[in-house]
Amino acid sequence: PIRRTTVPQIRARKGGDPIVSLTSYHAHTAAIVDRYADFILVGDSLGMVMHGMDSTIGVPLDLMIMHGRAVVRGTKKALVVVDMPFGTYEESPNVAFRNAATIMKETGCGAVKLEGGARMAETIHFLVERGIPVMAHTGLTPQSSHVMGGFKTQGRDDSTWDAHSADARAVADAGAFAVVLEGMVEPLAARITQEVAIPTIGIGASVHCDGQILVLEDMLGLNPWTPKFVKVYGQLGPMIEDAVSRYAADVKSRAFPTEDEVYR
Ligand code: KIV
Ligand code: NA
Repeated sequence: PIRRTTVPQIRARKGGDPIVSLTSYHAHTAAIVDRYADFILVGDSLGMVMHGMDSTIGVPLDLMIMHGRAVVRGTKKALVVVDMPFGTYEESPNVAFRNAATIMKETGCGAVKLEGGARMAETIHFLVERGIPVMAHTGLTPQSSHVMGGFKTQGRDDSTWDAHSADARAVADAGAFAVVLEGMVEPLAARITQEVAIPTIGIGASVHCDGQILVLEDMLGLNPWTPKFVKVYGQLGPMIEDAVSRYAADVKSRAFPTEDEVYR
């Protein structure tokens, strides 16, 4: 059997070949992504993408576990990282450990991801010391969108740069093996990438990061709204529409099923 990419292998890619990552929430798409990605994120964005929620705030732990399991089953090569949803880790290191351990035991994933900088350092240290690899996530952190007043690009005001830098350094010092930098201006992402010893994984954070991640459905053209930081590599929306409309027409005209699809 092909061994999966390990946490130390991702960690060792700092400053090297760019790390490739995408989200996946389900087995068949994950199997395709698995052939190209170094790690696959089962992101809590699945609340919006798969379940029509307005934000990630309402995503429950069991939903992350369900999709995490599907992605682990559907893949064999990439490291699978599962997001800890809002409310399952912020309260204390103990609560975070219990929920992270549940995610790892129930899904078979190789690491968890959680949002927050310096304020999460103690928790990250606690988890890593006890056998749970942690990917951190700083910059624009969607689970705090109510505090931030929406999804705001970070670092437009350079007086905030030191605090953003300190957040990234704090999670690296605490033992995170990589950090997602989301929605921040290019020079800030470049500065953080220079400063921290762990790989930075950018989403809306410029080409200067050590790797990139996108939400799969966004880059496949399935999201009716395309954020500025997304490059659309496929137009699955129109392809699905075309297939569904032709199927509907064939059913109505009795052109489907044909001789080929019938049991004799
Ligand atoms: O939930 C998610 O998809 C994420 C990535 C965008 C980093 O956290
Ligand atoms: Na997320």
